Amino acid sequence: MKILGIETSCDETAAAVVEDGTRILANEIASQVAIHARYGGVVPEVASRQHTLAIIPVIERAMNRAPVTWPDLGGVAVTFGPGLAGSLLVGTNVAKAIALAHNLPLTGVNHLEGHLYANWLANGTIVFPVLCLIVSGGHSDLVLVKDHGDYALLGHTRDDAAGEAFDKAARILGLGYPGGPAIERAATQGEASIELPRAWLKGSHDFSFSGVKTALLRLVEAGKVSNKDDAAASFQEAVVDVLVTKTVAAAREHRVQQILLAGGVASNRRLRQSLEQNSPITVLIPEPVLCTDNAAMIAACGYFHFKTGKTDGLDLDVVPSLRLA
Ligand code: KG4
Ligand code: ZN
Repeated sequence: MKILGIETSCDETAAAVVEDGTRILANEIASQVAIHARYGGVVPEVASRQHTLAIIPVIERAMNRAPVTWPDLGGVAVTFGPGLAGSLLVGTNVAKAIALAHNLPLTGVNHLEGHLYANWLANGTIVFPVLCLIVSGGHSDLVLVKDHGDYALLGHTRDDAAGEAFDKAARILGLGYPGGPAIERAATQGEASIELPRAWLKGSHDFSFSGVKTALLRLVEAGKVSNKDDAAASFQEAVVDVLVTKTVAAAREHRVQQILLAGGVASNRRLRQSLEQNSPITVLIPEPVLCTDNAAMIAACGYFHFKTGKTDGLDLDVVPSLRLA
């Protein structure tokens, strides 16, 4: 079954066609990064206007590349939350219009569940139960996945999400936007020689990244950072250390067979490498382009929704603060 996926939750306008939840036929992304870079972050009103301009050409491009026509499709899957309300509205309304016009079943996908399903597009067979670390701009969630659609949230961030912390640290160091890739680039030139605090929150699977960010800010304010690359490497090391140590601990405690990684921060090479090195069990990580926002992951997740009869009507509404479990 071929599914059209649509993703417009933040600043990427994306459409994809995926077969049987695992095989990508097309994966198109129109990025707004260059536009928002001028403002140092995503401007919600600008984002929704850009989605309106880009969404139809992006869907056409994905369908031409696949190649598929409307009768080839088995359904439409669209992100309905969490995300920016105005941005989500563009994708959901286009998806509803397509479903109505072409008589296709519709399913709303939780963006975080979508990130998780990028793992079904990666190599390797997934054996439940698995543990997934979802690290994006808005979330740092440790999720126990018992089966398709059966999730337990073991831990989440109590303040800044991992990606948000990377973005703020890059701003503090004047490394530009988006912060994650900027920190990673600078870190490759530097040494993790500056000591920064790690919030372990012992006895809990929760995360906290505001302390390490503030510690970095205080050092910069005190004029104690002479080398930005070293500061970037030290910051990246502190965040990766906490993410990896706590993920491995949760995997041991819940006796899972595999660890999955997902979300924009999962494209960070140091995080990927450290998790693979320190995990006693198999680690599956989608390729970087499937970690950051895309519609292939939404189509993959949508396939499993349809398989289990999870469809939505044309009254599907956006839920900007949607949670996973
Ligand atoms: O999943 P995503 O594309 O969008 C959200 O759902 O939020 O994640 C975006 C976040 C941003 O905070 C960005 O700085 C971070 O992922 N990110 C990275 C890297 N690439 C993107 N963080 C660290 N290293 C990277 N290479
Ligand atoms: Zn995302």
